[in-house]
Amino acid sequence: MENEINNITFSNGVTIPQLGLGVFKMKDEKELMEAIRVALEVGYRHFDTAMIYENEATLGRALKASSIPREVLFLTSKVWNYDHGYEETKAAFQASLDRLGTDYLDLYLIHWASANYIETWKAMEELYTAGKIKAIGVSNFQIHHLEDLMAHTEIIPMINQIETHPAFPQDELRAFMAQHAIIHEAWGPLGQGKNDLLTQPVLLELAEKYGKTAAQIVLRWHIERGIVVIPKSVTPSRIRENRDIFDFSLSTVDMDKIATLNTGARYSGHPDDQEFLTRTSIRPS
Ligand SMILES: NC(=O)c1ccc[n+]([C@@H]2O[C@H](COP(=O)([O-])OP(=O)(O)OC[C@H]3O[C@@H](n4cnc5c(N)ncnc54)[C@H](OP(=O)(O)O)[C@@H]3O)[C@@H](O)[C@H]2O)c1
Repeated sequence: MENEINNITFSNGVTIPQLGLGVFKMKDEKELMEAIRVALEVGYRHFDTAMIYENEATLGRALKASSIPREVLFLTSKVWNYDHGYEETKAAFQASLDRLGTDYLDLYLIHWASANYIETWKAMEELYTAGKIKAIGVSNFQIHHLEDLMAHTEIIPMINQIETHPAFPQDELRAFMAQHAIIHEAWGPLGQGKNDLLTQPVLLELAEKYGKTAAQIVLRWHIERGIVVIPKSVTPSRIRENRDIFDFSLSTVDMDKIATLNTGARYSGHPDDQEFLTRTSIRPS
């Protein structure tokens, strides 16, 4: 079996590599530069950042330091909660472009469904129509947010980036998204290193059976489900390991075994946490 990174096609025909590198919490410049160098070397072309990660400029520099042409890269960034609103979003988008040193984004997402996301989306629709963003989407949107957005705007989000891993597979939201051709993207695909997910006996058994690691089994589980994954690592051996998941597949029986890890409990923040949404919507002075 080949080991090429698969592509997923959005409703508008644009494609996204099914595996990317997430760069959340990568703030150390040297560490980030090295992570990007290794990732590019082993074939990653898709990178997921956000204004709030405070590393767009370093990511831009790391990508420029390679000889990889911009058009074969896939760059995602996100509009933060205190930049919501029509004019604010346009300004935030331009600032992200400037920091990344590019004149378009492949994907721009609303980071969380904080107040005023409808006006934010209208600005994104306009930027998309003008060709400044190849695909637009949301993150941390629940069914009720998606219904509200679709009722008040023109373009259905092409993707929703949500916490997803075997302990929290998001089956209900996922089914709703499938009905509307909204691609499922997982953040925290490895459970963010929390709650001993990667030492669960089921995963260790499958790792042994397939000659892979527990992390590779989890990432392959996402791939089999058609999910876009953006595992984060600053460790060169793990960046390589996480890329090495397109040369095997899991049987239906083994997918069912992984499904037994579903606890229905999130590991991280709830999209309807109003205290969080309100607090993070205040621009620091
Ligand atoms: N939209 C949102 O609200 C949102 C929220 C969170 C994250 N995200 C995005 O999603 C990306 C991924 O999520 P995440 O960073 O929260 O969590 P994650 O990718 O599930 O987990 C990252 C953690 O797992 C470790 N790790 C990576 N590969 C491993 C492997 N093969 N074996 C064992 N441990 C491994 C990393 O350690 P080392 O780095 O030390 O190797 C790090 O501690 C982020 O980087 C970000 O781009 C989006």
